[in-house]
Amino acid sequence: MVEVRLPESLSTQAQLGEIGFDALCVECHGENAAGRNGVAPPLVHRIYEPSHHGDAAFLLAAQNGVRAHHWNFGNMPPVEGVTRADVMAITAYVRELQRANGIN
Ligand code: HEC
Repeated sequence: MVEVRLPESLSTQAQLGEIGFDALCVECHGENAAGRNGVAPPLVHRIYEPSHHGDAAFLLAAQNGVRAHHWNFGNMPPVEGVTRADVMAITAYVRELQRANGIN
């Protein structure tokens, strides 16, 4: 849904996060968190910048799911079997993608 510029390199934490993202989140949020039409929004988006959706919002989303409120995609269900460490790494990955796209 959005064009995502990739960072030149990812930190070790973000590399782990990419693996987690590709296992648990990519089917909805799309490759490089660019979103998928009709399914789920891009996370590389100003709405999800750290000052509006802090890292705790990512943990809550993954553990409890999200009631649709910013978009019309419907609710996000809780992600089965996700650990706190998984989400911390995934969040680091998304933050590095965001920063490479001017979202700070
Ligand atoms: C089954 C599809 C699906 C999967 C899998 C999924 N999401 Fe989502 N996610 C959504 C949808 C749809 C929304 C948008 C809800 C809305 O309208 O605000 C969303 C919203 C979010 C939000 C915003 C939360 C907020 O407070 O507004 C975050 C953060 C997020 N997802 C992270 C993740 C992460 C991390 C994963 C993988 C661990 C993941 N999602 C997996 C569908 C999904």
